[in-house]
Amino acid sequence: ERGGRLVVASNRVSVPTGRQAASAGGLAVGVQAALRDHGGIWFGWSGELVTDPAERQVRTVEKDGITYVLIDLTRTEHRAYYGGMANRTLWPLLHYRIDLTTCEHEWYRTYAAVNRLFAETLMERLRPEDRVWVQDFHLIPLGRELRRLGFAGRLGFFLHVPFPPAQIFLTLPWHHELGQDLCAYDVAGFQTPTDRDHFVDYARRELGAEVLAEDRFRREGRTIEVEAVPIGVDVREVERLTQSAEARRQRDALQASLDGRALIIGVDRLDYSKGIVERLRGYLSLLADYPQHRRKVVLMQISAPSREDLPEYRDMRRTIERLVGHIVGRYAEADWIPLRYLNRTHSRRTLAGFYRLARVGLVTPLRDGLNLVAEEFVVAQDPNDPGVLVLSRFAGAAAYLDGALVVNPYDVGAVAEALDRALTMTLEERQERHRRLLAAVRANDVAAWRRRYLAALEGEHETS
Ligand code: G6P
Repeated sequence: ERGGRLVVASNRVSVPTGRQAASAGGLAVGVQAALRDHGGIWFGWSGELVTDPAERQVRTVEKDGITYVLIDLTRTEHRAYYGGMANRTLWPLLHYRIDLTTCEHEWYRTYAAVNRLFAETLMERLRPEDRVWVQDFHLIPLGRELRRLGFAGRLGFFLHVPFPPAQIFLTLPWHHELGQDLCAYDVAGFQTPTDRDHFVDYARRELGAEVLAEDRFRREGRTIEVEAVPIGVDVREVERLTQSAEARRQRDALQASLDGRALIIGVDRLDYSKGIVERLRGYLSLLADYPQHRRKVVLMQISAPSREDLPEYRDMRRTIERLVGHIVGRYAEADWIPLRYLNRTHSRRTLAGFYRLARVGLVTPLRDGLNLVAEEFVVAQDPNDPGVLVLSRFAGAAAYLDGALVVNPYDVGAVAEALDRALTMTLEERQERHRRLLAAVRANDVAAWRRRYLAALEGEHETS
């Protein structure tokens, strides 16, 4: 790699504290791993809110070779930029949920202003030879703002969530602005070829882009690389989490409580994109239509609280809680409860221990950028006696993870059938699938993500 530092910008910055919680999404986990042995700057929101802009601080923290630069937001900014535009406009829209998308001009104005503020703050710290890598939908305009301020170095963007078909993106009142923002980068990265193709198609139809190849177009005299490079897990780190004393302790305690029953596990942030309601209906259908499994299985659904002050999240939580009550009330017996529902955050060590024990990992998002829970589940398995991954075809990971039982999460009967198949699968087939899964997780780990992306950002083409 050439001179210059790697500078990463993202809304959320996770300064290591020793314990990482499951509520941290894939982005935090992935960027942490990418910067850890690379060094450089990680810039973003401090997590602190102030009332008056005059109280705003920018703090710098040095830790393990990484410089964290953290900026406060005001409550007003945070409400409109994060609670509004990011989480009530872009999040549902990018997950194809126009039915849940709210558009407010005030939110967009604040979103643009926060991105301008971030660009000004970052610009003061940039050297011309630095490479800037902007993460996710909160900061789409950041690159174009840096260009306006005169940054002429290499600029990349990576979208951790899906990019929808053009006809959906067009419903956003500011699609043209955001489309142009994306074209200000040298490299626009996406999780899967499908997301990449959607963006290229949008740019061709709406922005006058001249498509040169599946991963490259020209627009206004500039060439933009459009890459499909999936983020992944740090396999060694997940192995270490799984072998930790805490993971073993948690696994043993859970195992003792199961009394020989097979564990099915679901772990997500409590988010409508994760398909938790549909997943619970699938389980209900297993209990109803495959009575041979009654008393012999337990589903443990762990839903980490997320974005709790937004109405869409509160509504979904109520729906899930009703359904949980229904399933338990209908099928529980004096000495067997079919479903454990944990609406709390768990450490990644604890989760790794739980994954190791599970006979089935049930990952059924309705739409997901990649989904690192699926990959952590695979890595945590005992290769001699591995559990089975049941994976939604609409998770980005399904494009890469050969060996999973792939399901349509909207098809409740198909989810039940896949669960039955997973629960009755021979040891030989489980081992064979696990070998393929682990190979795919390794081939697409977080180091490969960083390497492939940075190669593109350096303007080198990796030919493999
Ligand atoms: C997804 C997004 C991340 C986000 C995470 C957690 O993984 O891609 O950008 O940080 O969800 O959501 P939150 O709103 O708590 O940051």
